[in-house]
Amino acid sequence: MASASALLPRDFEWGFATAAYQIEGGVNEGGRGKSIWDTFCHLEPSRTKNANGDVACDHYHRFEQDFDLLGQYGAGAYRFSIAWSRIIPLGGRNDPVNEEGIRFYNQLIDSLLARGITPWVTLYHWDLPQALHDRYGGWLDVDEVQKDFEHYARVCFERFGDRVCNWITLNEPWIQAVYGYATGGNAPGRSSTNKQSTDGDTTTEPWIVGKALIMSHARAVALYNKEFRHTQRGVIGVSLNGDYFEPWDAEDPQDAEASERRMEFHIGWFANPIFLAKDYPTCMRKQLGDRLPEFTPDDFSLLAQAECDFYGMNYYTAQFAKHGTGEAPLTDVLGNVEELQHDKQGTPVGKESGLHWLRSCPDLFRKHLTRIYKLYGKPIYITENGCPCPGEDKMVKEEAVNDPYRIQYFQDHLDAICKSIEDGSVIKGYFAWSLLDNLEWSDGFGPRFGVTYTDYVTLERTPKKSALLLKDIIAKRQGPLSNGTH
Ligand code: NOJ
Repeated sequence: MASASALLPRDFEWGFATAAYQIEGGVNEGGRGKSIWDTFCHLEPSRTKNANGDVACDHYHRFEQDFDLLGQYGAGAYRFSIAWSRIIPLGGRNDPVNEEGIRFYNQLIDSLLARGITPWVTLYHWDLPQALHDRYGGWLDVDEVQKDFEHYARVCFERFGDRVCNWITLNEPWIQAVYGYATGGNAPGRSSTNKQSTDGDTTTEPWIVGKALIMSHARAVALYNKEFRHTQRGVIGVSLNGDYFEPWDAEDPQDAEASERRMEFHIGWFANPIFLAKDYPTCMRKQLGDRLPEFTPDDFSLLAQAECDFYGMNYYTAQFAKHGTGEAPLTDVLGNVEELQHDKQGTPVGKESGLHWLRSCPDLFRKHLTRIYKLYGKPIYITENGCPCPGEDKMVKEEAVNDPYRIQYFQDHLDAICKSIEDGSVIKGYFAWSLLDNLEWSDGFGPRFGVTYTDYVTLERTPKKSALLLKDIIAKRQGPLSNGTH
């Protein structure tokens, strides 16, 4: 339980999060164009455990029912993403806007507002229009893609910004750049180290894509600041992922450096330019040399005009970092560091969940929050946090709805937020991942992150215990005053 001095602000915003491709389905309906995930999920042999988002949770047809659940759970906010290719099927700035797509998201927004739920809209959750990938290489063409993204953002601000006041430009650009273009585990699946990939260059592409994502974000925010902020009075930010790292050997200064370097390669890569309008971290320049694209004076001036309002944090887990010996290979994306779940003494970083990469590490979450707030100084919204319970993927519905591991995970992570507030951080909101069990990308429909059980055959939804308890978990930790004002 939280101590009396560590409380969430009274106006703490909370709810649940989802992403378009993971839940919508209806991929060929309403004039939607293909995205790189449609293509990736239908490659043969399968790279997504034979799963695809063609139907997913069929949210496209069942959103009213899903929003009833949000109401039942007491959520005040809901984070979802817009599929770029529903709005502009071919993606580009001279391509037609699809009114049916606009109508669909208008319905979502209006239906949330009618229930008193605040929409939080992510513009990009990894689903680039396939046509842009085909036309000029998508994220690999830094100059083209940022102009197309800016135009897409403009259409969204113009058409939805009268009712949407909370914008997230990009979800986890690190995953898009590294999994999409270094390891090839996510769409578009490019890599020079992955046997299943036919194209790609792991030594250069992730760094080019990283710059394209940063400049696209910057263009959208600069546009919002210049043309929309004044009348729409909303807030805009970005959601960055990143684990917290502790040294594998607490006595070895090289492991301490490796931990810091690992986090710079993960978070500083995007956060330095985005939040500080500064160059990439020095350790990245040192290791990557001219494979890391430069920012021109014009780029820096755009970054400076793109001041945003908050740091969106997606946090799941922590790890130990062990320094690499010798030079990093050209394909390294981690900062010449080995990532481990046990330290030198064999102590695990946290309790195992239902997924190999995710252990519950709330104490390190507190350190993570406090570090990020000190470095970037922006109010933090946790835009994703959650887990599958051990063994949940093998459970029948009746077992899965009883989810004590998830309840404990939520409690522990909300306590960590309170403690970081005590450390001086400004933390203004929390979105549990996810409203529904859904398509976990290349892991298919295996891992269940939802607070609602989805039966993928009947598409029936059943609330898990955690769904109904989150409201109380948060209310118990709320104090009388906002910490968002100092
Ligand atoms: C991050 C991603 O944004 C989301 O799409 C994914 O399902 C969760 N993490 C869990 O892996």
